[in-house]
Amino acid sequence: MANSTPGRGFETLTWDNGLHIIDQTLLPREHRVVPLADLDAVAEAIRSLRVRGAPAIGCAAAYGLCVAAWGSEATDVDSLRQELRAASKTLARTRPTAVNLFWALARMERVVEGEHGSVDDLREALLAQAHRIRDDDDAACREMGRLGAELVPEGAGVITHCNAGGLATSGYGTAVGVIRAAHEAGKAIHVYVDETRPLLQGSRLTAWEMKSLGIPATLSCDVAAATHLASGRVDLAVTGADRIAANGDVANKVGTLGLALLCRHFGVPFYVAAPVSTFDPSLASGKEIPIEERTADEVASLYGVATAPEPGEGFTIANPAFDVTPAELVTAIITERGILRPPYVEAIGGLLRGA
Ligand code: MRU
Repeated sequence: MANSTPGRGFETLTWDNGLHIIDQTLLPREHRVVPLADLDAVAEAIRSLRVRGAPAIGCAAAYGLCVAAWGSEATDVDSLRQELRAASKTLARTRPTAVNLFWALARMERVVEGEHGSVDDLREALLAQAHRIRDDDDAACREMGRLGAELVPEGAGVITHCNAGGLATSGYGTAVGVIRAAHEAGKAIHVYVDETRPLLQGSRLTAWEMKSLGIPATLSCDVAAATHLASGRVDLAVTGADRIAANGDVANKVGTLGLALLCRHFGVPFYVAAPVSTFDPSLASGKEIPIEERTADEVASLYGVATAPEPGEGFTIANPAFDVTPAELVTAIITERGILRPPYVEAIGGLLRGA
């Protein structure tokens, strides 16, 4: 079933008597909306990237606690609270890098620990908070798009890595939000989409979004980024982020660091678009960001067909899902509260103090 709301595009996740998501592992072959009936299904969906992208993971975790609350047979508030604390721990263990997951769970936990007259009151309060998290994300993405579009010149070539689009958020996108806002403003841009090995979020998801939105785009292998930059066709890069440390170091999909280095070499601005929920001021630098290591089979096979020898006898396979781009390579960070420029320690401190 395709799930679209006019004016808002597709719905990455919806609540309709329960949580439903677009199963992103099936795209672009199939656009299927699936229910996530219990907590284990939500945790599995996050772990296996059926729902992925930092803000969307946060939204899914928030609704995941609602799924746990609705599925509970608890008859008093304290028992439900106990179950929800355990559910929150389960969701927190799904993926380590995107801080939006922990940020959203913390917002939900404040509701869990609040005063509630009955289990139904607690359930309703949780659902209201999950809706707020989703709606705030949508508003933040649209504002990032509006602000970031100013950085995109008429006729620009724009390169992006992974998927920081509607599918990675509540529906509009962060980096893709900037791209689509520039397109909606009438600018004749052309997007270069990195395919994003090993799980192909660029080719399966970003290219699908570009085509659905009618934005002119070219897909190529990650290693072709250098060729595009060397040709002079690319005027700027914009990516999303999974976690930004207090000094402006940015964790994002593995390959982002290589793209940022290429941009520096070719004198092309490298922008990051991320909502305030992606900043982690508790970490002084990117060295402290936990980087998810995923299983070897994602690298060593394609759709079940082996593309590498079995590990063993001194041969190993590495699959870090993210890398860290040092702040010095980031031209600016586009947030819903404004565009940050170096020095980032001061800019991020001011942003998070609400200055
Ligand atoms: O492993 P994924 O697909 O969850 O990684 C997603 C990314 O790296 C995105 O660029 C990031 O989460 C920002 S999404 C707006």
